[in-house]
Amino acid sequence: MQRDTFDRPMRDLRISVTDRCSFRCVYCMPRELYDDHEYLARSEILTYDEIVRFARIAVGLGVEKIRLTGGEPLLRKQIEVLVAGLAAIDGLEDLAMTTNGHLLAKRAEALAEAGLGRVTVSLDGIDDEVVRAMIDTDVSVDVVLEAIDTADAAGLGPIKINTVVRRGWNESQIVPLVEHFRGTGHTVRFIEYMDVGTTNAWKSDEVIASAEILRLLSERWEMVPVDPAYAGEVASRYRMVDGSGEVGFISSVTEPFCGECSRLRLAADGHVFTCLFASAGTDVKAVMRSGASDDDIAGLLRAVWEKREDRYSELRGAVPIEFPRVEMSYIGG
Ligand code: GTP
Ligand code: 5AD
Ligand code: SF4
Ligand code: SF4
Repeated sequence: MQRDTFDRPMRDLRISVTDRCSFRCVYCMPRELYDDHEYLARSEILTYDEIVRFARIAVGLGVEKIRLTGGEPLLRKQIEVLVAGLAAIDGLEDLAMTTNGHLLAKRAEALAEAGLGRVTVSLDGIDDEVVRAMIDTDVSVDVVLEAIDTADAAGLGPIKINTVVRRGWNESQIVPLVEHFRGTGHTVRFIEYMDVGTTNAWKSDEVIASAEILRLLSERWEMVPVDPAYAGEVASRYRMVDGSGEVGFISSVTEPFCGECSRLRLAADGHVFTCLFASAGTDVKAVMRSGASDDDIAGLLRAVWEKREDRYSELRGAVPIEFPRVEMSYIGG
């Protein structure tokens, strides 16, 4: 297995398949900037064959988990073809997708048949008005809830629900979300609002710390911590003592988890990044398209990983921020 300068293995690969999205979440793709944004052209985007080739090489170097992201991955045509290509890679243990759920209901069965193991769905509340303000798009919560049910029935569950909590926007939804999903086997995970990218005008007072959310939930339900499912699990989890389920907390602001970060990220245009907060990546597409062999590409990835020293969240505030930084919609979260 490849190890970086902090001895962290390269174990997870997150692949962003498109920089487009059907939502305009105010904290990610604000409408005033993204309606007229210059998106990647088709020729700049990796083909499915190129992505599968890259993934096979990465698995050869120790990657065990692959997650497809975007933008919104289901906007990419016939993504099932890519899923099938990835699912066939020997040695890959886990194949997942993070989606906004908008187009998932119609596709869930085909995705499961193609070999997708599970989906994570982003959902910032249960109340339509609150969610519409967050996603700035005319899609009702019912569409996403139905997608979650359909995906579960197709075998893609139990499902993780990712909720970004932003003070002044959706803290009213914390208890209702847990109330809604308890007893279903799905897990709500609250994500601390992060200073990723440059377009969301992040302010630290908009972050609600996981500890505060846990306190709020504990007033209602007795909660006890659960051991991590694997080393480096991003979410810390708590179980409701009444047996109705678990809640997760992704605390990248108040309790950074860089120490165990084993994630390599591949953007849709074939650049690889070793941190969500990076400002520059390595152009693997150019190398692939210039006729490089698999060994050449493996050598390049090894070199990139060996010199990796990222731990942005741990250093947050202590080092000057480099600009421009890549956007979440481009690098895939
Ligand atoms: P599993 O544990 O495999 O289910 O997935 P995951 O939690 O790694 O993936 P998911 O896409 O659901 O991640 C949830 C969110 O956590 C992301 O969307 C990010 O907001 C955040 N996150 C994931 N990885 C990182 C990371 O490396 N650094 C930081 N700062 N945040 C991350
Ligand atoms: N902070 C935290 N999470 C974010 N996401 C998007 N932008 C941010 C941010 N600034 C989340 C999405 C989705 C995942 C890919 O990342 O809601 O669940
Ligand atoms: Fe789209 Fe996800 Fe960004 Fe929202 S957070 S705009 S759903 S990529
Ligand atoms: Fe990994 Fe960078 Fe996130 Fe730290 S800030 S956990 S190094 S992606």
